[in-house]
Amino acid sequence: SLDFSGYLKNRIRTVPDWPQQGVMFRDITPLLQNPKTFRMLIDIFVYRYMEEKVDLIAGLDARGFIIGSVLAYELNVGFVPIRKKGKLPFKTVSEEYELEYGNATVEMHTDACKPGDRVVLIDDLVATGGTMLAGAKLLKKLGAEVLEAAAIIDLPELGGSQLVRDSGLELFTVCSYD
Ligand code: PRP
Ligand code: HPA
Repeated sequence: SLDFSGYLKNRIRTVPDWPQQGVMFRDITPLLQNPKTFRMLIDIFVYRYMEEKVDLIAGLDARGFIIGSVLAYELNVGFVPIRKKGKLPFKTVSEEYELEYGNATVEMHTDACKPGDRVVLIDDLVATGGTMLAGAKLLKKLGAEVLEAAAIIDLPELGGSQLVRDSGLELFTVCSYD
């Protein structure tokens, strides 16, 4: 059968104890490096959204940019970056959220989307869900309709995907690690 998820999982590298003791880091660089798995990954998202009348792809800093921009190009729609604090030059909206230790802030240009825009929000991975939720809040602040949040990897044990779905946001992930 066509087990795309398993095929892609074989190209995701687990690095133990990075960036700190006890963390099993899921590294997507081998998946991106291999032309067949990179194409397979992007095509999963392309087929999912090609008939959904998407206006815009919003990608989260930094790994959401890699897949989000290629997806936007393939869907023939625009791409907007949601960046970490202090990186965007024009007027921004911002949203602070909780990290495991401390806080983080994401920002988006105020003219990055307009009310009624149908947006797919994309990142590489959902851990605690804080980043994805903050990104969705920014889009909603500007009046956009977030059709779905999407990521390559879900880490369900961290509760983020549940939190995202409990907030009323649709979430699509390609593979999952328990
Ligand atoms: C990672 C990952 C997601 C986020 C997920 O990014 O790429 O963006 O964390 O975590 P959360 O669900 O707990 O919010 P990171 O902060 O390492 O930034 P980077 O992409 O710039 O490396
Ligand atoms: N991989 C990539 N990003 C992450 C991870 C991970 O395992 N955990 C939290 N952010």
